[in-house]
Amino acid sequence: MWPRNDLIELLGITHPIIQAPMAGSTTPELAAAVANAGGLGSLGMATCSTEKMRDDLEETRALTNRAVNVNFFVHDEPDTSGDASPAMRAHLAGYYAKLGLGEVAGAAAPFTSFDDERLEIVLAHPPRVVSFHFGLPGAAVLRRVKESGATVLSSATTPEEARILEAGGADAIIAQGYEAGGHRGTFAVPFEAGEIGTMALVPQVVDAVSIPVIAAGGIADGRGIAAAFALGASGVQMGTAFLDTPEAATDALSRGVMREASAGDTRITRSHSGRPARGVENRLMRETAAITAGAAPFPAQYGLTGPLSAASRKQGSPDFVATWSGQAVAMNRQMPAAELLETLVAEAQAILGG
Ligand SMILES: Cc1cc2nc3c(=O)[nH]c(=O)nc-3n(C[C@H](O)[C@H](O)[C@H](O)COP(=O)(O)O)c2cc1C
Repeated sequence: MWPRNDLIELLGITHPIIQAPMAGSTTPELAAAVANAGGLGSLGMATCSTEKMRDDLEETRALTNRAVNVNFFVHDEPDTSGDASPAMRAHLAGYYAKLGLGEVAGAAAPFTSFDDERLEIVLAHPPRVVSFHFGLPGAAVLRRVKESGATVLSSATTPEEARILEAGGADAIIAQGYEAGGHRGTFAVPFEAGEIGTMALVPQVVDAVSIPVIAAGGIADGRGIAAAFALGASGVQMGTAFLDTPEAATDALSRGVMREASAGDTRITRSHSGRPARGVENRLMRETAAITAGAAPFPAQYGLTGPLSAASRKQGSPDFVATWSGQAVAMNRQMPAAELLETLVAEAQAILGG
């Protein structure tokens, strides 16, 4: 039915389509709907409290007994002693004043990297798949994850990163092209070196490793899925396409922003979080483009931008609210997740001749 079956067999799924883990946007209902339709449903848990992690893992298990993926960030805890650049602080002070928010808040991380507490919760609710963004955890932690029976995925933005992940124990590689929405997974090279489009990246990653490759970034319909297989991928990971399903946690403000977006409306910025991420351009991104490199280290920049985002959201304004999306956001469809998955499968099969 599909040109390559290695990923399907590795993950225990029917269709080689992964609904991307998206911190803050995925829900047990979304992951379960995709899983029950034969794809791989994912929970983006990087920014969750440990209580929410437990609740969501239990809720998901009650909704599906199919394979589900649970995702975390792996990053250095930020050194906030240097805070943001003076130019960034001074610029944000103008917004704070206009919104009546007082002094600019300090750099502070709102969530931590994958740690022992999170590891224990994962081991107590063992998911079929665990994926990491920004590299892999240390060898001892990864060994415990794998001993639980989980298959491990991580994102690469260059062939070199893919080789590092394979050598480190990943079971399959997500080749994340420059078109992708959300944070760049780049972890071993300068961010600029990882600015490779999906079309160029996927075959080079396929050539660099001997494990299955999953294409990600700008894939919105069956044409993109068929193209990924033609490039040598064994499956796809799609994020933006699932953001306007009713099961996603996307709020009305961001749904409106995405529905109005055109092909050229997304940009990569550090200004929200401190790390390069792609979203629909908003006022913060536009007006800090020249000083975005002066953001506080990830994720401590959120300490500075969080109050702006909350105030903006309260006013129903997208000015300071991040709407992470990929370059194909204008192709989004508003339909239930299971129907979207079935549509994607039918479209891809019509091209691939399955
Ligand atoms: C709103 C949003 C949030 C994301 N959050 C995560 C995350 O928490 N973990 C992760 O590994 N990838 C995350 N990503 C990146 C996706 O895994 C994937 O690389 C990307 O969605 C693929 O590009 P596309 O959005 O064009 O389909 C996120 C993407 C979006 C759009």
